[in-house]
Amino acid sequence: MPTHDAFIATDFPDLTDAHFVEDALAVSKTIPSAWYVHPAYHEVDRRYIFERSWQYVCASDQLKNPGDHVTDMVAGNPIIVVRNKENRLSAFYNVCKHRGGPLSMDACGHEKVLQCKYHGWTYLLDGSLRGVPRFDRTELFDKKDFGLTPIAIEEWQGMVFVCLDPAHAPLFEHVIKGIEERIAPTQLGTLQFHKRDNYAVKANWKVYVDNYLEGYHIPLVHPDLISVLDFRSYQTETNDFYSLQFSPIKDGEHGYGSSADHAFYYFIFPNMMLNILPGRLQVNRVDAQDNKACNTVFDYYYSSITPADLEGRIKADLAFSDQVQQEDVEICEYVHRGLASNAYDQGRFSYDLEGGVHHFQILLKRAYKACKKELDAR
Ligand code: FES
Ligand SMILES: [Fe+2]
Repeated sequence: MPTHDAFIATDFPDLTDAHFVEDALAVSKTIPSAWYVHPAYHEVDRRYIFERSWQYVCASDQLKNPGDHVTDMVAGNPIIVVRNKENRLSAFYNVCKHRGGPLSMDACGHEKVLQCKYHGWTYLLDGSLRGVPRFDRTELFDKKDFGLTPIAIEEWQGMVFVCLDPAHAPLFEHVIKGIEERIAPTQLGTLQFHKRDNYAVKANWKVYVDNYLEGYHIPLVHPDLISVLDFRSYQTETNDFYSLQFSPIKDGEHGYGSSADHAFYYFIFPNMMLNILPGRLQVNRVDAQDNKACNTVFDYYYSSITPADLEGRIKADLAFSDQVQQEDVEICEYVHRGLASNAYDQGRFSYDLEGGVHHFQILLKRAYKACKKELDAR
């Protein structure tokens, strides 16, 4: 997909087939610390993992009317999602074909046409170039050759996803297969988007994902979560492209339902999480910034957003989520420093409580193996 493929085989880290062996959970070591901390992996991850996967962007209800748009950065690329005149969603790179300017500099907005904020070229909502001021004397120029570059887009359960390199990505239906049935009667598409928060984390993105994927750390890192989740009944299930951590909810005053309810924590490879509690969804996307920093997006959805909810249930949920996230950020930053130290290379897994981490690391091995094979064949 990228037309400027500066990435060459010699840039790829020195990995051999021994690195890609998929040992069973009970006997497996964790991935080498270099996979987290060495700078060479950042570009590999961006090009060969993030561009080749479906990336969550926003809620469908942020794009209700023709002309509504949302911008974001996905796999290091500026993108824009618009609802067009035919009421369909389209995604493009948020990059003008004149000299690379942005069509929108806002997180969201509403425009009848997309006008580049640099020199004012205008594009229709279908991405075709319409207005080109002061270009009469430029020769051999055809507007048809300068439309916006489209991006593959999918909508599922009220959420919008894009993929920069769909030819090398799994089908979207395959990625999310089985989730709707598993969480029924909960229907994520009935929830309303409330707000987005961002957290900067001074740790590699894989450290954050590993940490998400196990409940082993809950007693020490999140002691308050023990009052909500029945930790002893915590289970992990794995699928082709996702894993699920699943726990009954404890009875109590915490406002997250009762023992008749469950918490579902889905991780969808490589960097998305769906945290589902009764009447509430929190979507996370973990964006790699470089080898030692990531940004985590937190989008909150609720079954109802009345003034009473905002002052009660939602306020409490946002405060508790923030507390848990601060606890995770702090421990992840320590862990990154530990992985980068002289003292660590590879560890081991708890068979009972770290199956999700093992599954993620297997998918990483497969992605690196495919990348190496492709680069070796060049
Ligand atoms: S870069 Fe868009 S009009 Fe010049
Ligand atoms: Fe945690």
